Amino acid sequence: MTAEKLSQDALKRAVAAAAVEYTLTRIDDKSIIGIGTGSTANCYIDLLAAHKAKIYGTVASSEASAERLRGHGIPVYDLNAVDEVTIYVDGADETNPHLELIKGGGAALTREKIVAAVAREFLCIADESKWVDHLGTFPLPVEVVPMARSHVARQLVKLGGDPVYRLGVLTDNGNVILDVHHLCPISPARELEEKLNNITGVVTNGLFALRPADVLMLGTADGVKIVYAKD
Ligand code: 5RP
Repeated sequence: MTAEKLSQDALKRAVAAAAVEYTLTRIDDKSIIGIGTGSTANCYIDLLAAHKAKIYGTVASSEASAERLRGHGIPVYDLNAVDEVTIYVDGADETNPHLELIKGGGAALTREKIVAAVAREFLCIADESKWVDHLGTFPLPVEVVPMARSHVARQLVKLGGDPVYRLGVLTDNGNVILDVHHLCPISPARELEEKLNNITGVVTNGLFALRPADVLMLGTADGVKIVYAKD
């Protein structure tokens, strides 16, 4: 493992530890915690496990995270069985200073967006490599109904993107992913998010701008920074 990868992992663990402490100040004995997907979310799950006696329940944004939670003995509920999600904690592929995000590198964007929509508070956790001034260097994931793949790809080209089919990947919902390159700078992100939502055959896109994060914990070499959205 390279030194860079090692230090990125250390930043992920530091930010996950800070997020666990933050979560404990937000929950009561009936709270449901929304749990994201990816390597940073996995660090969070593993550290949260030490406090499982204080956790009433969770909802997960992927089968992988649900399995990891259950492996730690943490209860996982179906989202339809809960009235409210107190806090949703998840990573990101990119975040800008408005806390608009690109997500979906792990193909879980649809369930992530659903849990974020339900959550009272969305805490994003990321290492500093995810911080950008303008979204779009990371290829934007778009979840698509399989039979609509070519149609959606043509519409994405009309919008100036360069869609690439993520081979061998099926989402938890049985759909495929197109990763859209060359969209940087995405601005305004809300506008593009709406446009992409309106393409027939698109299930979800990985822009989280209409519902951005409320707070970001960013793991940096100088420690974990708490960032609130810039207006
Ligand atoms: C999964 C996601 C993840 O949050 C995103 O890919 C970041 O992952 P990691 O924490 O492994 O860097 O959106 O769909």
